[in-house]
Amino acid sequence: MVISFCCGKGGTGKTTSTYNIGAALAQAGKRVLLVDNDQQGSLTLSMGYEPQMLSLTLANLMFQAIDMPEQLEQSVEQTIQKTTNNLHLIQANNKLAGTLSRLVSMQNTRAMFPLDDGSIAPERVLSAIVEQVKDQYDYILIDCSPHLDLQMLNALVASNRVIIPTQAHFLDTAGLNDTIEIIRKVQQSLNPNLRQVDILLTMFMSRTVLNQKCAGTLWRANAYLYRANRLLDQSSRTSGCWDQFAGICTEKWCSTGLPCSSRGGHAL
Ligand SMILES: Nc1ncnc2c1ncn2[C@@H]1O[C@H](COP(=O)(O)OP(=O)(O)OP(=O)(O)O)[C@@H](O)[C@H]1O
Ligand SMILES: [Mg+2]
Repeated sequence: MVISFCCGKGGTGKTTSTYNIGAALAQAGKRVLLVDNDQQGSLTLSMGYEPQMLSLTLANLMFQAIDMPEQLEQSVEQTIQKTTNNLHLIQANNKLAGTLSRLVSMQNTRAMFPLDDGSIAPERVLSAIVEQVKDQYDYILIDCSPHLDLQMLNALVASNRVIIPTQAHFLDTAGLNDTIEIIRKVQQSLNPNLRQVDILLTMFMSRTVLNQKCAGTLWRANAYLYRANRLLDQSSRTSGCWDQFAGICTEKWCSTGLPCSSRGGHAL
């Protein structure tokens, strides 16, 4: 199962959710690969690595998938950080900005010379990398940047599911439309296997009127909604809360396979 964490709004908890859900799944015995698909390298940092010190990153793999696909399998193996037995990472840093420029130029070339010369499509580069390892993991979680760009498109094309972390604030819920629109387009034209889209409410405080109203708006939308108000920031990972969170993940999410099955809702 490949799940992307995407939202066109910054600071909504994409990285924190990817990290916490990945760690909880690993703690529950699943084999998990986290993919840092953001040049900020926040997920890499959360996992305890210094992004700028790393020489092998997702950027190298993406260039390799484009230029030397025959060596990709070996490079993926060398790049993956085996942080614990079953929690692994493909790390990133600001070199990913160079990859994005390359993807954009590939797209422009394709628009000008639409002949199929057998080269990889710019939106399928990450899929080629995921394909190399997907049999080795139960879950591959991809953390995206807040930009609705080709890098995010790559993540959506490689995924079976998308989770949209969002805060119950006016600007966040209003901004959801753009993210949902791009996901719909990917479902229709590039990746029919992208079957489930869920909205994950982060940093939810049921006491505030604003949070209650925005959550109500989301409920009325045709969206799956999983109200996880106990997702934890990595810095507050005290053991008691952590166990509680792992419980949410394993009971309500992993075992049912549907993040919000107990609360209903409609697939997008
Ligand atoms: N569920 C949560 N509970 C408490 N704090 C959270 C939660 N999710 C995120 N945070 C905090 O909110 C801030 C932003 O989180 P995070 O970096 O995960 O967002 P992001 O969507 O990945 O940001 P960006 O768009 O820049 O990639 C961080 O300080 C993080 O610790
Ligand atoms: Mg982030």
